[in-house]
Amino acid sequence: MSDLLQLHNSSVEQLQSAATLEALEAVRVEYWGRKGSLATVSKTFGKLSPEERAAAGKQINEFRQAFEQLFEARKARFSTAALDARLESEWLDLTQPAPGPRPGSLHPITQVQRELEELFVSLGFTVLDGPEVETEYYNFDALNIPADHPARDMQDTFWLKDGRLLRTHTSPVQVRGLEKLQLPIKMIAPGRVFRNEEVDASHEHTFYQLEGMMVDKDVSVAHLIYFMKTLLSAIFHREVTVRLRPGFFPFVEPGFELDIQCLICGGKGCPVCKHSGWVELLPCGLVNPAVLRYGGVDPEKWSGFAFGLGLTRLVMMRYGIDDIRLLASGDLRFLRQF
Ligand code: FA5
Repeated sequence: MSDLLQLHNSSVEQLQSAATLEALEAVRVEYWGRKGSLATVSKTFGKLSPEERAAAGKQINEFRQAFEQLFEARKARFSTAALDARLESEWLDLTQPAPGPRPGSLHPITQVQRELEELFVSLGFTVLDGPEVETEYYNFDALNIPADHPARDMQDTFWLKDGRLLRTHTSPVQVRGLEKLQLPIKMIAPGRVFRNEEVDASHEHTFYQLEGMMVDKDVSVAHLIYFMKTLLSAIFHREVTVRLRPGFFPFVEPGFELDIQCLICGGKGCPVCKHSGWVELLPCGLVNPAVLRYGGVDPEKWSGFAFGLGLTRLVMMRYGIDDIRLLASGDLRFLRQF
């Protein structure tokens, strides 16, 4: 009998110190489960005299009842505690204003484009827009690139069944601007352009350019260089190393390629600069008189410069982006950095 009492007392102690529902259940199994120590003790009662057996049976029933009562009480406490914890953690104040959508941010190309628009507007330039689906006339012919000209091969594109095409550059807006605006003209035309081209770290089939053109009396290469320098220092906020070399475009004469030293590798050579240390960024030149004539402007009286900034590549240089494909990837881990 004293064994019984000891077992009962320790079962009660353990119930009281059990800290979880699982621990509580483990105590029940240990003492009152099928093979539990209190449950099996009654099997030894056969050896007792009838009086002793009756007393022991009564005693063990009392212990079982006491245990069960305490067990249920503890279990109820834990269940309420679990519910309370859940209610606390999921508590919601419905009178608070909703947090609202998470603010997004502008794409880095849009950011730089807007900065450049502001800069040129402050210099007296007008911002023009041109169609992305363009006619062969504006994209090629009026830019002095006739159908049989080899320059057409350098800008292979996607053609529509009706003979129109996805513009390969923003230069068609030069002629549209000449037709539309009053002389003298200072205009820029940022926008999306397309080429049927193999994609790699620095080439996309869809990318952005920013065209610029100034037409006035006696415009010279000096004006061109002044505006190019202003543009670059505004964008990079620091000195960048540039080089000017002759470049051929049928719509300018003379034509130049303005390259900047690769800011990804510092000029040492990497996949972005095709291991040359230089990135082609800003082809430019004086507007070819033939183009002025196509736009209805007399080249005897007027002259101008034009440039075609590779806006996507500029953004890569500005932010140190080493693969052009990231920009149109839609990858939020990339975009959230801007
Ligand atoms: C032109 O598109 C001429 N229209 C530029 C021009 C305008 C010259 C006015 C003279 C006067 P080009 O094909 O080189 O030129 O492209 C211009 C710039 O666009 C390049 O310097 C480069 O920065 C960028 N670019 C060209 N191809 C790609 C491409 N596949 N992916 C990303 N950027 C490109």
